[in-house]
Amino acid sequence: MVVVLDFGSQYTRLIARRLRELRAFSLILPGDTPWEEIAKHRPQAIILSGGPRSVYEEDAPRPDPRLWEAGLPLLGICYGMQLLAQAYGGKVERAGRAEYGKALLTAHEGPLFRGLGGEVQVWMSHQDAVTELPPGFKVAARTEENPVAAIEGKDGRTFGVQFHPEVAHTPKGMQILENFLEVAGVRRDWTPEHILEELLRGVQERVGGERVLLAVSGGVDSSTLALLLAKSGVDHLAVFVDHGLLRLGEREEVEGALRALGVNLLVVDAKARFLKALKGVEDPEEKRRRIGHTFVEVFQEVARSQGPFRFLAQGTLYPDVIESAGEKGAAKIKSHHNVGGLPEDLGFELLEPFRLLFKDEVRELALLLGLPDPLRLRHPFPGPGLAVRILGEVTEERLEILRRADDLFTSLLKEWGLYDQVAQALAVLTPLRSVGVAGDERRYGHVLALRAVTTEDFMTADWARLPLEFLDEAARRITQKVPEVGRVVYDITAKPPATIEWE
Ligand code: XMP
Repeated sequence: MVVVLDFGSQYTRLIARRLRELRAFSLILPGDTPWEEIAKHRPQAIILSGGPRSVYEEDAPRPDPRLWEAGLPLLGICYGMQLLAQAYGGKVERAGRAEYGKALLTAHEGPLFRGLGGEVQVWMSHQDAVTELPPGFKVAARTEENPVAAIEGKDGRTFGVQFHPEVAHTPKGMQILENFLEVAGVRRDWTPEHILEELLRGVQERVGGERVLLAVSGGVDSSTLALLLAKSGVDHLAVFVDHGLLRLGEREEVEGALRALGVNLLVVDAKARFLKALKGVEDPEEKRRRIGHTFVEVFQEVARSQGPFRFLAQGTLYPDVIESAGEKGAAKIKSHHNVGGLPEDLGFELLEPFRLLFKDEVRELALLLGLPDPLRLRHPFPGPGLAVRILGEVTEERLEILRRADDLFTSLLKEWGLYDQVAQALAVLTPLRSVGVAGDERRYGHVLALRAVTTEDFMTADWARLPLEFLDEAARRITQKVPEVGRVVYDITAKPPATIEWE
């Protein structure tokens, strides 16, 4: 396994993901983690991430100095390379000119660049540079601008690269990382099959003959978790609360798929209860609060009537639990809100089998466990469901309109082969009405907004450049088939400043 020490780079998670894509298990630890803590994981190699600081600053973040004597293969990236150069006796200074963006390695050599051929495009983003090599080190790559774009120590297992091999703008970056793993002799057994085996064993050991309760929402994480529990053979109950804020046919789809795969599923019809709780409520936060509250009530009732349960399983993912340099001092673990925010004092022990996995890995597991594609490849859907896509009061009538419009939009995206090209697509029913004509009649219809975004991590997002012909057809089809909608608009706001959802 590889430990990635985080010094605050925005790309640290990407480094860990890339290593996993290369089937090497990797964990992110804060840059200043004590050596004992690092050693506990028995890493076969260490990667030092980039970071926003300068190594010559007094209080710049640094690793535990015992790292430098540990004799493990090291790869320093950007700030990581500068740390490494400084620690072994080199010199780092502010470069004459900052280097941002694409650059070409005009010369490169050594095991890190094996198999790369001529000039190699890389992505640079730095102001500081190594101006004096540490004793025994040599230059392994250079660019026009930068005579020290990569360095190699004399043991042939210590490397620094000034550029970012982990980003897509370094097209051969994966090869460079793979070369490092090769040289370092890192085991490459992090395959979906292996992950599944480990998880099954882990769940069986931890749960034994006890009972596990979990909430499924229809999303990939909770569905895959339910399948994992079913496959592990432990005594489980998966509760699917139908809050009436689901999309068209969603409940039936989830029910059918999970039952067929052996999940012990209980569907609770709580539509009336949620609608009652939402009656007359227009404020977005109040809606969320009431939905969360009602959810917990319903869930607790089930837990009581079906119990006792020792464990509550949750689909928490690795990005929710990484404590990175940028987040230090802040809350350690962000509570994820997949199940509508269950309070932690329900009296269960938490079972979080996915807490070391990235989303893509859960999707791979889902495939192995047989989750049908429409569920596996589905866009994320918020816990409070369509309620946060209806601006103003949520009523059965408005839900019905939105459900049909949303289904038409999504189906059309699939028809056009666009569904998988956007990260999330949704329809929003606004509280506005506008005047239109249908035939000879004046119509006063609802204004419906369509939104589709592209994003890697849902923290920032761009609006999807859907073809105009597609938007044209979507507007026609929706106004035709959902006559209550009189006007369709497309949301062209990025996040930030907007959020993905409208509420
Ligand atoms: P925003 O609207 O904040 O959304 O840009 C980012 C992502 O989070 C989803 N989202 C939620 N998911 N419970 C959830 O489980 C929620 O309350 C919630 N609010 C937003 C949203 O759909 C998007 O994918």
